[in-house]
Amino acid sequence: MYLEKMESSKQLQLGLAIALSVVCMSMSAQSQAGTATITIQEQKAETTISRHIYGHFSEHLGHCIYDGLWVGKDSEIPNIDGVRKDVFDALKQIRIPNLRWPGGCFADEYHWMDGIGQKRAKMVNTNWGYATEDNSFGTHEFLNMCEQLGTEPYVCGNVGSGTVEEMSKWVEYMNSPNESPMTELRKQNGREEPWKVTFFAVGNESYGCGGNFTAEDYATAYRRYQTFCRNYNGGYLKKVASGPSVPEDYHWTETIMNRIPADMMWGLSLHYYTIPGPWEHKGSATDFTKEDFFRTMAYALNIEDAIVKQDSVMNIYDPEKKVAMVVDEWGTWFDVEPGTNPGFLYQQNTMRDALVAALTLNIFNNHADRVRMANLAQVVNVLQAVILTNGSQMVLTPTYHVFDMYKVHQDARLIPTTVETATITDGQWTLPQVNASASVDADGRMHLTIANLSPDRECQVNCPISPDYRIISQSLLLTAKNITDHNTFESPNNVHLSTFDKATIKKGALTFKMPAKSVVMIELK
Ligand code: AHR
Repeated sequence: MYLEKMESSKQLQLGLAIALSVVCMSMSAQSQAGTATITIQEQKAETTISRHIYGHFSEHLGHCIYDGLWVGKDSEIPNIDGVRKDVFDALKQIRIPNLRWPGGCFADEYHWMDGIGQKRAKMVNTNWGYATEDNSFGTHEFLNMCEQLGTEPYVCGNVGSGTVEEMSKWVEYMNSPNESPMTELRKQNGREEPWKVTFFAVGNESYGCGGNFTAEDYATAYRRYQTFCRNYNGGYLKKVASGPSVPEDYHWTETIMNRIPADMMWGLSLHYYTIPGPWEHKGSATDFTKEDFFRTMAYALNIEDAIVKQDSVMNIYDPEKKVAMVVDEWGTWFDVEPGTNPGFLYQQNTMRDALVAALTLNIFNNHADRVRMANLAQVVNVLQAVILTNGSQMVLTPTYHVFDMYKVHQDARLIPTTVETATITDGQWTLPQVNASASVDADGRMHLTIANLSPDRECQVNCPISPDYRIISQSLLLTAKNITDHNTFESPNNVHLSTFDKATIKKGALTFKMPAKSVVMIELK
């Protein structure tokens, strides 16, 4: 039922995306082919790119939690207190700053008390394949895992089918150091000290699977629910309100911003999926045409338009940008892999996905003044996953490598950039060939990340910089022979990171030629 409801909104998103891309086409068709000039203004590096832009999302959906993150302590698969060691190590490597849990739509039918203690109640996961959920992965398992990973938990509370009391007690159970029935229960369950949950969402997609609220009703419910989500131990709980159904639903955003003051709402959510086809036939993740590729890029690029427009509504009520835009679900959404459960959203991940990740993260960086948190959907085995598992095997996807390259931007200061780029065309689509962002970190190292979106054309990039800069470490390159290339359990390194030695600095400019369909990271000081 949920999927039927969502259908129209996702299709609306796609329709608008196409319309916007066509407008874009007529404006940019004159650019010079195969070259790009990136102008950076390092003296204007003021805004911090929050590391939380590089967050991930783990839902009780398909094999994200079970078999993906969690195998249990008794598994033969090497694990750290039940968490797969291979996945744990891979996530450590990309320094995931936060992890969202337990959903998604699942969050609004999740009752946290079923997932603590020795005896766990089972339930049916009605959103995702009607799978039986045994609740063996619950609050303790999630928060202990986050602690060991050194990542901040981002917990999503149940507004749709839960009570204010249930939500309030969950926050108390997790964060309170005081003596109370909830903290006693936590101690009985083996955890003496509170965890430090910093991010807490008051519901998910409350316009739809989270309760079918109107904007007005949700604003009222939000104010009430959040009141009883207390700050414990001198901490400050960063509460996130549910966002609009589609980026063009300005009424939702305006109502929330108007009715909920900034001291009750740290952030406002926005979900943006790249779905290059109608809901019933979104297209294969691996078997796609050049036209499909262009359509995917066009739609992915339109996230910038969504951010700008949503930001302009937020600015009416919050010109100082106190309230963060939290893009807590983003990524590609294709048809599931043939033969897999349609409710489990398992899809492969190609060089096309890597380019979507690269351009999206560049866009987030460039809007870091408002976008202060984001979560790729989802971390393992679901949608645009960074990791896929199969029994004891694990594979890192091309998207994983983009997160590995881009981690240098975490908490660095954004360097404003302007990109003058050639365009690339296929059929009705004309798109900018190059997309980029830059930052400078606390040690004065400048990082540039650039994506060449052309499936078949190199790009000569020219970036005027001060002659004092030097390339200080090996630059990184991610590319592939074909846009459909991906990593499999049999062939896990088809698409991999390599060093890039084509960049040089001469006569006050950094120049390099990027291969077609590639992402490059360059480090300078
Ligand atoms: O990520 C899959 C689903 O997409 C989430 O559960 C829901 O919030 C969104 O519609």
